[in-house]
Amino acid sequence: MEHSLGLTSPLESILPKVKISAKEIDFNEWKGDTLAIGVSSADLDKDEETVFKNSNLRTINKIVNGTLASVILEEDFTGKAGQSVALRLVGLGFKRLVLVGCETSTVLSSVKWKNFGESVATATKSAQPYTLGVTLADFGNLSDDQLQQRAHSLVTGIILGTYEDSRFKSERKKVFLETLDLIGFGTGEELEKKLTKTQNLCLGIFFSRELVNAPANVLTPAKLAAEASQLCVGFEDVLSAQVFDECKCRELKMGAYLGVAAASSNPPRFIHLQYKPPKGTANTKLAIVGKGLTFDSGGYNLKVGGASIELMKFDMGGAAAAFGAAKAIAAIRPLGVEVHFIVAACENMISGAGMRPGDIVTASNGKTIEVNNTDAEGRLTLADALVYTCKQGVHKIVDLATLTGACVVALGNDIAGMFTLNDDLAKELVESSERAGEKLWRMPMEENYWEAMKSSVADMVNTGGRPGGSITASLFLKQFVDETIPWAHLDVAGPVWNEKKKIATGFGVGTLVEWVLSHEST
Ligand code: BES
Ligand code: MN
Ligand code: ZN
Repeated sequence: MEHSLGLTSPLESILPKVKISAKEIDFNEWKGDTLAIGVSSADLDKDEETVFKNSNLRTINKIVNGTLASVILEEDFTGKAGQSVALRLVGLGFKRLVLVGCETSTVLSSVKWKNFGESVATATKSAQPYTLGVTLADFGNLSDDQLQQRAHSLVTGIILGTYEDSRFKSERKKVFLETLDLIGFGTGEELEKKLTKTQNLCLGIFFSRELVNAPANVLTPAKLAAEASQLCVGFEDVLSAQVFDECKCRELKMGAYLGVAAASSNPPRFIHLQYKPPKGTANTKLAIVGKGLTFDSGGYNLKVGGASIELMKFDMGGAAAAFGAAKAIAAIRPLGVEVHFIVAACENMISGAGMRPGDIVTASNGKTIEVNNTDAEGRLTLADALVYTCKQGVHKIVDLATLTGACVVALGNDIAGMFTLNDDLAKELVESSERAGEKLWRMPMEENYWEAMKSSVADMVNTGGRPGGSITASLFLKQFVDETIPWAHLDVAGPVWNEKKKIATGFGVGTLVEWVLSHEST
């Protein structure tokens, strides 16, 4: 076997395998290690005799002889999101009680519930519970449907917050959490089905994060293709993979993509996964295209001076979102929908064989491109990926790409830019992202700006200067999409990476899974 550069080979991933149950019991009857209670500032209100108005808090305070009220005061716990206080208990079915700040249950969005879940994971982590219970001081008046959606977001947050990627550390982090009990969110088959979906979604998000976290000396285009193909194992009845090597891509005339790949000693791989429902016909055929640069040095337009070259292993974040979604979808097995996952994977490097600034490349639809900047490589790879995708007979296309620094400047690290001319598709994606607790903001595809992309010698250049950089990038992609197919481009350059924690987020998987599931039919 060949060794990777630097002799690094990742250890096996340790994924949380949590058994989730929903219970309708009194919280003080619950048995386990740690019970977390979501508490809002309103829940902390007291009456004239300084007794908690909230009956759950009143009960706890009585059990612990009033120490709850004192601890809340001492530690300045006001119920704000992210805050927590812990109590050690004796004589109850559980050892620890942790109050976790949680805004009022009725107005919470998916994002906030997911964040609340992550806070629960963070606040309970240090005591390493094997069994964790979660409930709220006050559930308000929520319908079963609302409770289920909240349970889904909350559990997503808890599971995501529990996992740590330690594949590249010589000392492994162990996962302790084995059982998670939801108390007060309802019970029954429908909720359980939803929670199984939640777990499959989390597995997809972990997969996406691990792909992005893996450095470029380990995750080469060939390794990415192998990881994607490996997804089919155990899911052969619904998921299949096709991988094209450089020779095949040459036959398909993918000149823009191969131009980018030319300098690297790690050869390109064009990856096409296909999900087919286990039974019945697919009424809707969807395509998800991901930018798959396993590393982006910039090429001859080398990334220098604060261009974050050391982070450019994350330039396959779009591909990672696509494959993360593929993993979740294959496990969830929706009916009536077929999904194509397409990635033109390669590495943007420098060598004598590499593409020069000023070179003209020819994409697979015959259009010629003057490469005035080798660092605008993502759009060149996507050009051929989109041309290929349009030939698959799909009804809608979404692409995800860490495409421009300009989009990060415009929207910051938490929000992806959405570019589409199709209002219906825009609506579908915004709704999906809201359910997933991910943020999208629609940007204009101002046709006048195409002016900046005109070339004197070829059909177009690949960069149009700094103004509206993410818009001109989207107009470039548009040249390679069949106008009759609804298409949206998501620029995920900001949100794929958590700047504070210096790890991948798995952004996009949730939105894509919700989007695919919204096309389910029987
Ligand atoms: N992968 C980068 C975009 C990027 C930059 C993502 C910073 C996240 C953080 C992309 O390939 C790129 O280099 N884009 C250039 C385009 C420019 C040359 C028109 C950019 O944004 O600077
Ligand atoms: Mn680049
Ligand atoms: Zn790039």
